[in-house]
Amino acid sequence: MRIELNGERRDLRAVWFEDGIVKLIDQRKLPAKFEIFEAKTTEEVAYAIKDMVVRGAPAIGITAAYGMAQAALQGRDIDDAFEILRKTRPTAHDLFFALELMRDSIKRGAEPTTTAEKYANDIIGRCEKIGEHGAALIKDGYRILTHCNAGALAVGDWGTATAPLRKAHRDGKKIFVWVDETRPRLQGARLTAWEMVQEGIEHAIIADNAAGYFMRKGEIDMVIVGADRITSNGDVANKIGTYEKAVVAKENGIPFYVAAPISTFDFSLNSGDDIPIEERSEEEVLFCRECRISPKESRARNPAFDVTPAKYITGIITELGVFKPEEVWKLKK
Ligand code: MRU
Repeated sequence: MRIELNGERRDLRAVWFEDGIVKLIDQRKLPAKFEIFEAKTTEEVAYAIKDMVVRGAPAIGITAAYGMAQAALQGRDIDDAFEILRKTRPTAHDLFFALELMRDSIKRGAEPTTTAEKYANDIIGRCEKIGEHGAALIKDGYRILTHCNAGALAVGDWGTATAPLRKAHRDGKKIFVWVDETRPRLQGARLTAWEMVQEGIEHAIIADNAAGYFMRKGEIDMVIVGADRITSNGDVANKIGTYEKAVVAKENGIPFYVAAPISTFDFSLNSGDDIPIEERSEEEVLFCRECRISPKESRARNPAFDVTPAKYITGIITELGVFKPEEVWKLKK
């Protein structure tokens, strides 16, 4: 992704592997600080995923792939590394997809670093293709709503939901992006907005509960979100709040698209009801950064994802083209 740091243009990925170290843009700190987190052991890679130094389904998968390569180069037991990394976050399918691919390849004698690099390049290339297919859906002048951060930070480069936005913008279409703030971790307000600034895309951040207002006023032409897991029937798990955006979009006749590469599809599950939903610490809701915003006696619940049933989804933008949710089974190899 193209970023500007201290007045200098740089081309960086959200995660990369250098001298046996997994290096990550620390997404907990953006946009206030730009820092690189270095994971030197399997435990540190696991911590980076769990604590959301890195987040977003494809980027979690790429980080896990590098983590497996690192473990193999350090002579660690591959099954142990697999288990440590597998337990970090339960919802994004890319994590398990990448771990299985790396474990099986390493056991077959593949060179670990080459395999992990090939995985990362392949996923990022697929997301670039998502950009091409998705951009064809975007008309000049469109105002597009996105939720959470399904951007370059969540993939490595390009993004899933943001890939069509980047392509459309670079193709010279005039677009405007509505960015949901995405409580409690504020991935929209902090990360998607930062990416939009870097790309020079016109945008505005809105409170999570404002999308329905703008939809009803006719100020949103289209919704594009990412996905953490897509099941065979076309149901989609994505950041908490996605479901209600989809329902309100349908009510207002606004097309609702999901963008995801093949690593996010879980063909072993028939329905979104079977997707494990991560429940994170209540502190993420009770506090905003270091500031407690609720009475100290109050408790909170904090599901990180929800499931949008296929009936609310207009289309799923993949590297192979745009599919109706009921056509998802066609993508199974
Ligand atoms: O909890 P997060 O920040 O990992 O959740 C991320 C999302 O829900 C994204 O929309 C999804 O992973 C798609 S990323 C291209």
